[in-house]
Amino acid sequence: MDRIRIVGGNRLNGTIPISGAKNAALPLMIASLLTNETLTLDNVPRLADVAMLKRILGNHGVDCMVLGKRSGQNGMQGESIELRAGDIVDTTAPYDLVARMRASFWVIGPLLARMGEAKVSLPGGCAIGTRPVDLFIEALKTLGADIDIEAGYVFARAPKGLRGARIVFPKVTVGATHVAMMSAALAKGETVIENAAREPEIADLAACLVKMGARISGAGTSTIHIEGVDRLAAARHAVMPDRIEAGTYAMAVAMTGGDVLLEGATAANLEKPIEVLTQVGAEITATNRGLRVTRNGNGLAPVDVTTEPFPGFATDLQAQLMALVSRAEGTSHIRETIFENRFMHVQELARLGADIHLDGQVATITGVGKLTGAQVMATDLRASVSLIIAGLAAEGETIVNRVYHLDRGFERIEDKLGACGAAIERLSG
Ligand code: EPZ
Repeated sequence: MDRIRIVGGNRLNGTIPISGAKNAALPLMIASLLTNETLTLDNVPRLADVAMLKRILGNHGVDCMVLGKRSGQNGMQGESIELRAGDIVDTTAPYDLVARMRASFWVIGPLLARMGEAKVSLPGGCAIGTRPVDLFIEALKTLGADIDIEAGYVFARAPKGLRGARIVFPKVTVGATHVAMMSAALAKGETVIENAAREPEIADLAACLVKMGARISGAGTSTIHIEGVDRLAAARHAVMPDRIEAGTYAMAVAMTGGDVLLEGATAANLEKPIEVLTQVGAEITATNRGLRVTRNGNGLAPVDVTTEPFPGFATDLQAQLMALVSRAEGTSHIRETIFENRFMHVQELARLGADIHLDGQVATITGVGKLTGAQVMATDLRASVSLIIAGLAAEGETIVNRVYHLDRGFERIEDKLGACGAAIERLSG
C-alpha cells in the first residue's frame, strides 16, 4: 500500500492548477444514464472514485471513452470523456460496486426515470457517519415510485414513469437533491424541490442537464423548479473547478507560509473559507488566473467555526482547518454539524503533537508552538489530507499510511505540492 513521506518546514511558493471537482464529476457522469445520446465531459479529474464510477456505469451498459487532449485545452487540466448509455442493459447496481463508492447509489434516480425500474444496493456504513438514504427514498416516492427494501437492496418501480411533485427536504442533502433533480428532469409535469442543497456542484449539474434539454431553474438556491421533458439529448460540459481542493491548498499555504497561485480557483465558491483563512492570518486575492494565497511572517490566529451546508463552512474542509489551527496562537473551536463521526483525524493529529479535545460535536484546539513528524494513519479522504497539511509544517519526517483514501479525491497531490517546494514523495508498495 502506498504511503506518503513528508519532511516539514518548507514554505510553499508557485502555482497549483486546480482540477475538476470530484463532487461535480460524479453526478455529471451519472447524468449520462438519462439519455441514449452522448454526454461529453471535459476537465474530468483523474481520481480513483472517477475510475470506479466508470466501471459502475459500464455495468449498466454505458460506453465510456477517454478523448485525446483537445488543442487549446489550456486551463483545463482533466481528461475529456464521452459517455453513451445507448442501451441500458442492467438496472441493478450490485453491492460489491456500490459498497466501494457511496455516490454510486445515486444511479437509482436516472435508472428509475429512464427505465421505470432500478435495483440498487444500500450503500452501507461509512467512516464519517451512518449516512442513511431515507431522504432519497422519500423523494422518489413523492415522484410516484413504488419502493421496497429487501436483502440490502432498494427496489424502485415506476412502470408508467415518474410524476412531477413538490419535494420538501426536512434537512439539506446534496445527494438527494442531485437525484431528485435528475429524476424530475424526465418526470411528467412540474417538480418543485424546497430546502434544496445550494452547493455549487448542484448548479453545475443543472447547467449540464439544461444543455441536455432539461427545463430547470433555481439551482443553487433552496428552491428548484423542474419542468419534466420526454427525453434528453447529447451535450458537452466542462466540470467546474474543485473548491474543496482549492480550499485545501489554501490551508496548506496558510500553514507553511508562502505565496501560491491556485490556478482556476474562483472566490465565488469559497467565500466562507476565504473569510476564515483571512481571520487566521492568510491573505487571499482574486486574480484573472485564480486565487493568490500568501502568508508571510505573521503567526496564525485562532478561530471559531461551525460546519454548515453551502454557503456555510464546508464539512469537507473541517479536518484541514483543524490541522491549520493546531499551530495557532490561542484556542479555536470547531463544531461539526453535518456528519456525526467526522473527527477521526483528531487522534492522528495528536500523534504529531496537536492538543485537541473533543466534547460531542465540538473540538477545542489549543494551538501548540510546534508539531513533530511521526507515522500517522489516513482514515477517510479529507482526514488524510489534514495529515498532509500538518506534516508540511511538522519538524522532521511524517509518514502518512493508507493514502488510497487520498487518491479518491486529490489528483497528483505530491506533484502539485512538490512543484511548490514541499519535501514530499510517494513511497509505493
Ligand atoms: C455530499 O455527500 C458529498 N459527497 C460529501 O463529500 C459532502 O461532505 C456532503 O455532500 C456534504 O456537503 C459527494 O458529493 C460525492 P448529504 P452526501 O446528503 O450527498 C444526512 C467528500 O469528502 N442524510 O448532503 O452523501 C447525512 O447522513 C464527501 O468529498 C440523511 O439523513 O451528503 C448527513 O448527515 C464526504 N438521509 C447529511 O444528511 C439521507 O437520505 C448531509 O448529507 C441523505 C442524507
